Amino acid sequence: MNPTWVTSLPAGTESGQYLTLDLGGTNLRVCRVDLHGSDREYDVIRTEHRIPEDLKSSTAERLWKFIASCLRQFFDQHSISVQAAQEIPLAFTFSYPVTQHSLSHGILQRWTKGFNISGVEGRDVVKDLGEALDKEVRAQRKSSSIHAGSIIVVQGLPLRIVALVNDTVGTLMASAYVDTKTQIGSIYGTGSNAAYMERCDQIPKMKTSGLYGDALMAINCEYGAFDNSERVLPFTRYDVEIDQSSPRPGQQRYEKLVAGLYLGEMMRLILADLYDRHKIFQGRNGSGLKQPYVLDSCSLANIENDQTRSLTSIRNMLQETFNITSDFSESYFCRCVARLISRRSVRLYACGIAALLKKRGMQHCHVAVDGSVFSKYPRFPDRVMEALKEVLGLPEEGDDHIRLVPAVDGSSVGAAVIAAVAMAREEGCPGL
Ligand code: BGC
Repeated sequence: MNPTWVTSLPAGTESGQYLTLDLGGTNLRVCRVDLHGSDREYDVIRTEHRIPEDLKSSTAERLWKFIASCLRQFFDQHSISVQAAQEIPLAFTFSYPVTQHSLSHGILQRWTKGFNISGVEGRDVVKDLGEALDKEVRAQRKSSSIHAGSIIVVQGLPLRIVALVNDTVGTLMASAYVDTKTQIGSIYGTGSNAAYMERCDQIPKMKTSGLYGDALMAINCEYGAFDNSERVLPFTRYDVEIDQSSPRPGQQRYEKLVAGLYLGEMMRLILADLYDRHKIFQGRNGSGLKQPYVLDSCSLANIENDQTRSLTSIRNMLQETFNITSDFSESYFCRCVARLISRRSVRLYACGIAALLKKRGMQHCHVAVDGSVFSKYPRFPDRVMEALKEVLGLPEEGDDHIRLVPAVDGSSVGAAVIAAVAMAREEGCPGL
């Protein structure tokens, strides 16, 4: 449960132009966000880069360099013109657990979602990113091969990182900017987590902060780490295997049951185990089943979605991914397993959201959800809602006081809103 130093939901009147960098589990997004300052409107220009697989287990130097060069490309592509005297505020969405003593600093506690980049844990990621951006600018200035139109080369890049933001908090703020009923921001994608506003007198970590009891603070729950001590959740042997073979065994135990990164791998482990025990794909070469993480959550969704009479997509998928020919009953079995895996994931995901609703006694609100599992899986929003109603004891039909809503434009807009509030405060602007 990490205090984030975001102390209010947006008013909807925040304004200005912001750059945002968003480092998630799969992509790096670079955006320019224009908050219009009225009618809760904004514009976004965005570029997305897939994070190279080998970068995820490389070094801090490579990570920061990658981010800095994506930002430079963004400037070049969009011919963003900056006067040297004009400072551009940048908000950094960093979707990993950090300890923050202020909005614009944060020490990475540990990598999650399979990342294992050396030289970042235990360090202030804002400082290290800032230094990398600085280096990039200086290197570009020296290089003669850069074309003259590049803003970075010609005029320098007077960037200032004004906020470090978790994706859940960004999601909460972005959605609350356009929809005042939003009280929770959540991610259900490669990783899983949620954020909500808490009273400071309910936050033991804020005891000495000097903030008043009823002042609010956004909490990044980091509940992916729930039950690392294995006291509550029913872990299967496949869960244990996923955990043990991950770069951080013993961490993110709840997340490893729920999040998209692990759903396909769960399926692969089950099939590989049954193959080894001669229960499935008998007499065929099962070596393709031995390759970790070949099956992603998108393929799992496709398996579940196959409504064809002869289950053609499942058969094709098994052939392409594992190089295995399957008959009808094996393909049917695979679809059942895929349904079990996603059903467990949905129901456990709903528990996290239900816990927050109960903790704050929220009975009428919107929960903004972002992430590939929520948006790409068939009927996921309905299925989560179904589970949520069951946990909260709400009637199955006709009660829509709590609604799960797709998040607005990801966390970049939220990061910009947070930056706007922070800057307005710096300038002593009342009411923000
Ligand atoms: C991280 C969180 C993040 C979540 C969703 C987890 O692995 O620890 O900080 O919010 O993934 O991206």
